[in-house]
Amino acid sequence: MGKTNNSKILIIGATGFVGKFMVEASAKAGHPTFALFRDSTLSDPSKASIIQTFKILGVNLLLGDIHDHQSLVEAMKKVDVVISIVSHRQLQDQYNIISAIKEAGNIKRFFPSEFGNDVDRAHAVNEGHELFDRKVKFRRTIEAEGIPHTFVVANFFTGHFLPTLSELHWIKTPLDKVVILGDGKTKAVLNTEEDVATYTIRSVDDPRTLNKILYVRPPGNTLSYNDLVSLWEKHHSETLKRVYVSEEKVLKHIEESSYPINMGLSICHSAYVEGDHTNYEIKPSFGVEASKLYPDVKYTTLDEFFRKNDACTPFYLNQLITVNDV
Ligand SMILES: NC(=O)c1ccc[n+]([C@@H]2O[C@H](COP(=O)([O-])OP(=O)(O)OC[C@H]3O[C@@H](n4cnc5c(N)ncnc54)[C@H](OP(=O)(O)O)[C@@H]3O)[C@@H](O)[C@H]2O)c1
Repeated sequence: MGKTNNSKILIIGATGFVGKFMVEASAKAGHPTFALFRDSTLSDPSKASIIQTFKILGVNLLLGDIHDHQSLVEAMKKVDVVISIVSHRQLQDQYNIISAIKEAGNIKRFFPSEFGNDVDRAHAVNEGHELFDRKVKFRRTIEAEGIPHTFVVANFFTGHFLPTLSELHWIKTPLDKVVILGDGKTKAVLNTEEDVATYTIRSVDDPRTLNKILYVRPPGNTLSYNDLVSLWEKHHSETLKRVYVSEEKVLKHIEESSYPINMGLSICHSAYVEGDHTNYEIKPSFGVEASKLYPDVKYTTLDEFFRKNDACTPFYLNQLITVNDV
């Protein structure tokens, strides 16, 4: 049951990779939570357990579609806050959400589908650049329309960038070696989906995050690729051969590969070579850091993450890049 002073939250993209964590965090924090989903999702057997969990949590299930303006307006009239967590392939469809927010007229805060780099401060190339650019343009539209908002910079999700052995596919480099971009010394940030969802939900009624960027950059999760591999080696009592790929070679691989390899590599180049998760200071004029703002939230450090998830690996890059000299 929701506490009466908690905002009502609508989540669009609720049954997706990140969306389900957002729904759960919202309901568990006592917000009356509304999940928009399509008719086809209901009959999708792979989504049945997610929907069952939503029902157990008391989530209000609303039938609708990002392409159905009326369904969006009706859903928005029931809530105060909208969180979009649609896929990177649907970023353009989010302009429909803006039209609905304007018509509904009651939305106090909008969180667009970001949950990655700070796209205003990134130096991505190729597919990564195009993706970030779509998010930048959407930020500018939200600001120009005067829609109250928070942009969440989640950096990397552990569930995506620290795959388990069974999730690894298209392996290009054998697993006794670990591919590292550049010199492996640049610091990047990896967070669990649960923690990003917890911080996001904490921020919805917080005036300190209004029209600001909420950065999830906790110190225990900010480390270089070399440190990440060392951490994994410590937990597995194993030593991996480290294969360093020069930036020149990384850029060549990006140019010569096709989607989705070029997208994954360009996003990793931005984080692990350019340092786009950590190469700028978070200034109060534009942003706040989540672990400083909510010190009572006990986030999962990467050390704890590897202790609890011993199947997870640092081999994400092994599935993207062929190393000729291994
Ligand atoms: N930082 C990172 O490491 C990282 C990693 C991954 C993603 N991300 C970002 O997180 C965001 C979400 O990505 P994701 O991978 O979680 O997306 P996803 O798994 O593809 O989920 C998309 C959601 O949108 C729903 N949907 C699809 N078509 C719809 C429609 N017409 N109307 C309403 N809902 C519709 C899907 O429903 P169904 O469940 O029925 O398909 C699903 O719930 C993106 O901005 C992405 O760039 C960041």
